[in-house]
Amino acid sequence: MIRKDKIGGISIENIVRETGTPVYIYDEDVLIKRMREFKENFTSSRFQTRVLYASKAFACREIIRLAAREGLGLDVVSGGELHCAGGTPMDRNMIYFHGNNKTRHELKMALSGGAGTIVVDNSQELDELADIQKDAEETTGILIRINPGIEAHTHEYIATARKDSKFGISIDDRHQIREIIQKIIRCENLRFRGFHAHIGSQIFSREAFVKEIEAMAEYIGEMEDFCGIEIEELNLGGGFAVRYTDEDSPIPIGPLCRTIVEACEGKVMQLGLHLKRLTIEPGRGIAAEAGTTVYSVGYKKKTETKEYIFVDGGMADNIRPALYGAEYHCENISRPEGSSRNEYVVAGKCCESGDILIKSALLPETKKGDLLAVYTTGAYGYSMASNYNRLGRPAVVFASGGEARLIMRRETYEDMEALEINRKII
Ligand code: LLP
Repeated sequence: MIRKDKIGGISIENIVRETGTPVYIYDEDVLIKRMREFKENFTSSRFQTRVLYASKAFACREIIRLAAREGLGLDVVSGGELHCAGGTPMDRNMIYFHGNNKTRHELKMALSGGAGTIVVDNSQELDELADIQKDAEETTGILIRINPGIEAHTHEYIATARKDSKFGISIDDRHQIREIIQKIIRCENLRFRGFHAHIGSQIFSREAFVKEIEAMAEYIGEMEDFCGIEIEELNLGGGFAVRYTDEDSPIPIGPLCRTIVEACEGKVMQLGLHLKRLTIEPGRGIAAEAGTTVYSVGYKKKTETKEYIFVDGGMADNIRPALYGAEYHCENISRPEGSSRNEYVVAGKCCESGDILIKSALLPETKKGDLLAVYTTGAYGYSMASNYNRLGRPAVVFASGGEARLIMRRETYEDMEALEINRKII
């Protein structure tokens, strides 16, 4: 991995002088580059294509504004993410609302101008929707989430398309799906458009995506006959892998997008499908490599077998190592890149033995006050951050062309206190 001590043309030290640590710094040019790589390579002459940014990876108005400007749509999974998009120029028709347990209130938000498409996860959700769609002023598109039962060889917690997963309806459940489609067709303000599937995250295998396309295309063919309808849209979800450490070699975005489109074009021709649009939803593939978290080193500790360095954040700002055993690369950017390196365990400051950010980091002799940059933290870092131990969420900065902007200020003790009211309710 390359040691970066500048982001967006500015030295990390200068940014940190303004914001303090820990801080998430996004290279805005990398965000834009990734968005464009997806957008420019995911095109077809046979059908329309759409790239949605999966905002669960990192949701804030500024990144949604960028996605809208670059012609991407948006994948949201909660009223909160939908609300966040509401304050941006993101076109409603480009917003897709996912989730296995959307509340009535969230569905109402979507129907009343929040989202152009709702991805229905189960039949009970459709019953709820059928009940409330009568009052809607606009028509909302509907995709049904299908669980194709494809194993994408990813971490158990982020594999989502196994047959016993909580998401979607099994591809084998044709009768149930036909009933749902018929029910959608009877709703005046809902319009059935097609299917959605998502087979996992951080997927390195081209074959997994191709298998997904083959399974879904064949399924579309069958369901067109079985239900006597034309299916216009297939949404393949996200899952594009990124490079966290030198061990990772993800397929470059361009060739992978082209493989996906070609595989789909082939199936559309072979089976004579009526597909009008193919959609993907990358989150990590857009946000991860653009983000770096910078910490200050505090105390150190030596045991018989390990040497720890403690940083001023940890599992509260990045739960991924503790939750998934995720690995990251880091550099001490306060010291020149010396040849002699010590092996350190990078531990956070939370009250939890599992609060280890990096189990083995090779760094020059590291001292109190040094800045430690942990790379590729832009996806599922800030968005999964918590206030564990009442640590405030870090500041977020976007940097580009020698300019840095504070996008989210650091959460303060007062912000946390503002939630405490002690008011009698019964
Ligand atoms: N679409 C759907 C329906 C999804 O469930 C997901 C991710 C995405 C798109 C975006 O996937 P991506 O392109 O980012 O892989 N917290 C975990 C990842 C959970 C992913 C959940 N769904 C992590 O930190 O690795």
